[in-house]
Amino acid sequence: MSLREIIILPDRQLRLVSKPVEKVTPDIRQLVDDMFQTMYDAPGIGLAAIQIAQPLRVITMDLAKPDANGEGKREPRVFINPEIIAKSDELSVYEEGCLSIPEYYEEVERPARVRVRFTDIDGVVREEDAEGLYATCIQHEIDHLNGVLFIDYLSKLKRDRVMKKFTKAAKRAGE
Ligand code: NI
Repeated sequence: MSLREIIILPDRQLRLVSKPVEKVTPDIRQLVDDMFQTMYDAPGIGLAAIQIAQPLRVITMDLAKPDANGEGKREPRVFINPEIIAKSDELSVYEEGCLSIPEYYEEVERPARVRVRFTDIDGVVREEDAEGLYATCIQHEIDHLNGVLFIDYLSKLKRDRVMKKFTKAAKRAGE
């Protein structure tokens, strides 16, 4: 396993549409291992492969609450080629953040419940119903696979402000 660098706004790769995985090969398993290590290290609850500059439709997630030492029981989940096949009319609001937009949080409204179809790490196609944080997280991560970020749901004023802030920070880091 190795720790990978997480790409940050305004990196244009975040706007790429990721490609489907044709087969769960050893390379894909390696990518998933690296994604978990990177996600736990960050720390974060969800990561899309494009966030480590791999434009493939792969997501890792762990919604278990870590204990005071940042450890405890883990509930790793992997979603390959995930798609939302149904969503509730009812909406819910969560304060979202993103490892590619560090230390920025805003409320986003999304369907409260979704049904997701995906391939698991063993190559088996499965379906699950998601609600609560799970529903929000899977929608946020699938958006990444389509080049969509949670700031796209904010007002233009807020989005312009955060883009400006991160563009400035990137420029400073590059100087
Ligand atoms: Ni994100």
